[in-house]
Amino acid sequence: MAFRTIDDLDLEAKRVLVRVDINVPMQDGKVTDRTRMEAIRPTVRDILDKGGRPILLAHFGRPKGKIVPEMSLAPLAAPLAETLGVPVEFAPECIGEVAEQAAEALQPGHVLLLENTRFHPGEETNDPEFANALARLGDVYVNDAFSAAHRAHASTEGIAHGLPSAAGRLMQAELGALENALSNPQRPVVAVVGGAKVSTKLELLGNLILKVDQLVIGGGMANTFLAARGFEIGKSLAERDMTDTALEIETRAKARGCRIILPADIVVASELRAGVETSTLPADSCPPDAMILDAGPKSVTEINTLFERARTIVWNGPLGAFETSPFDAATTACARKAAELTDEGKLLSVAGGGDTVAALNHAGVADRFSYVSTAGGAFLEWLEGKELPGVVALG
Ligand code: 3PG
Ligand code: MG
Repeated sequence: MAFRTIDDLDLEAKRVLVRVDINVPMQDGKVTDRTRMEAIRPTVRDILDKGGRPILLAHFGRPKGKIVPEMSLAPLAAPLAETLGVPVEFAPECIGEVAEQAAEALQPGHVLLLENTRFHPGEETNDPEFANALARLGDVYVNDAFSAAHRAHASTEGIAHGLPSAAGRLMQAELGALENALSNPQRPVVAVVGGAKVSTKLELLGNLILKVDQLVIGGGMANTFLAARGFEIGKSLAERDMTDTALEIETRAKARGCRIILPADIVVASELRAGVETSTLPADSCPPDAMILDAGPKSVTEINTLFERARTIVWNGPLGAFETSPFDAATTACARKAAELTDEGKLLSVAGGGDTVAALNHAGVADRFSYVSTAGGAFLEWLEGKELPGVVALG
């Protein structure tokens, strides 16, 4: 999709409204992971370099249109200033006089952070009046919040209709990586999809079988597919009412020439507990009183061989119960292989979505993938083949 970038806008002395996603994890008032703050630095820096005055629009949590003091963005100003390396001022409103005055008074070289847009009901309803009130604060609009682009909200969608708009650097990078991974990839393309439930990833699987050459299914979701093939899965986490759906996906994949890879062997235990006694068995041999908690070494070899032949991989979701050792073994081994091939320049590796980043961090390889998305839900919707309203509005 063609869209403007900040290179296409004249930003000299302009008030630049920048939608960012700094919906970061916090504990006891402290930010525990600054990845999303670091990710917007190139955009803020480039705007400042071009003489623009960045005014940041952001949400935090889900206050549902009310002022919820614990969801104020005020505590994020200091860590943000530290991360960006520039002074960050905070306005306790995102529209109206207070916000407008703060925007007017903004010093060159400084950044203004406005209060949580979701304190207003008009944000989530994408109310044109609220979008206009936001738009009054700026001369141009830059969207750098790919990870909130699946929301058609006033600050992610509506506002783009009222101001000259462009994608920020992070938005550009996210879209570029996703484009290279699925829309226009070097083949073969392998997708790895894990996680608990088939039911939450139906659309995603349906889209991926149209796009990729091999689809590796792992995690709890693989159990449903194994059960559908008529294998005993014991006490494993699975959705037994989804077995027909699983078979249908297999049939459709075959018709499209997409190979589905389920675990050839499994690691089972009597319960999910660190250090529990485990057995490694063929995938059709789970004892009735055991549960499948990871893919086995044969599966790892098979997946890694696919990686070696692939040019592109897209990864969403772990292959096993990776938070509990030793059920992190398959995820870690395959993630390391992908990182190694990426290092060698043989593979484009793109990953994203909730647990995935945690799993890659656990394996110690997140920074060796070609691209790790900052997005959870938006990454999933994109894998589902959906148009993201925040992206569409930039077109
Ligand atoms: C996220 O953290 O996934 C984004 O900031 C979007 O948040 P939301 O799911 O509350 O819309
Ligand atoms: Mg979310």
